[in-house]
Amino acid sequence: MNKAPVGVFDSGLGGLSVMKAIRSLMPNEDLLYFADCAYAPYGDRSSQYIIERSESITRELLLRGVKALVVACNTATATAVNDLRSKFSLPIIGIEPAVKPAAAASKTRAIGVLATTRTLTSERYRDLVKRYAQDSIKVVSVPCPGLMECVEAGAWESLHTLSLIHKYLEPIRRANADQIVLGCTHYPFLTKQIQALAPAGITIIDPSLAVAKELRHQLSLIDGLNETDHEGSERFLISGEAENHRSVVELLWNRPVQLESIRD
Ligand code: DGL
Repeated sequence: MNKAPVGVFDSGLGGLSVMKAIRSLMPNEDLLYFADCAYAPYGDRSSQYIIERSESITRELLLRGVKALVVACNTATATAVNDLRSKFSLPIIGIEPAVKPAAAASKTRAIGVLATTRTLTSERYRDLVKRYAQDSIKVVSVPCPGLMECVEAGAWESLHTLSLIHKYLEPIRRANADQIVLGCTHYPFLTKQIQALAPAGITIIDPSLAVAKELRHQLSLIDGLNETDHEGSERFLISGEAENHRSVVELLWNRPVQLESIRD
């Protein structure tokens, strides 16, 4: 058994969708969330930039004694997870677009993937599509610049947000896809809006729970689960001025939170 906290990070607040899944599956664990708001978004940055940020955040979380790391960011997973695994020796769980279950479930033989440009142009993503969506499945990969910013601003219902979603769904609609993969951890917070603007009956896939299950599995392998009765706590570290993000963090997490600014 290990009572140390689990570290979770994202470029911003989107990774809270993954942290919610972890919290629901593992109520005893203490969770330490790092939002890299001062350096976000990652979606259109170079690989080098994302690797450097991911390493620096991992060091910051290790200083605070985390026993495992969840990269709650598809973009950072696609770009930096191999590097992190080669440099740090704790269990590292990443997240990637759920192409496999979407392809397996599709009846129309067409699926849509919403993600950042960096994720969709990564080698890791190309391999994923090659491996799980063979020739007979059409994969419509839609980069969604600007959408994470809508979530960061808490502007889920704004006209700008809704028109971006409408635009990004267009190629998915045209391809008659019956599955939409949320390939960025910010987008689950827009599920209602995406559902409302997508063709009726389409299935939206969010892999957060699968990530939480993988974390639990990895911790169980090293006898690392917190098996006490205690109610898990959360701490939120934010690069830059944390207070600027309080209202949105509380909106996303649904309760008052303690924030800490990380300045370099
Ligand atoms: N939340 C992130 C992801 O899952 C990235 C958003 C961004 O920084 O562009 O890809």
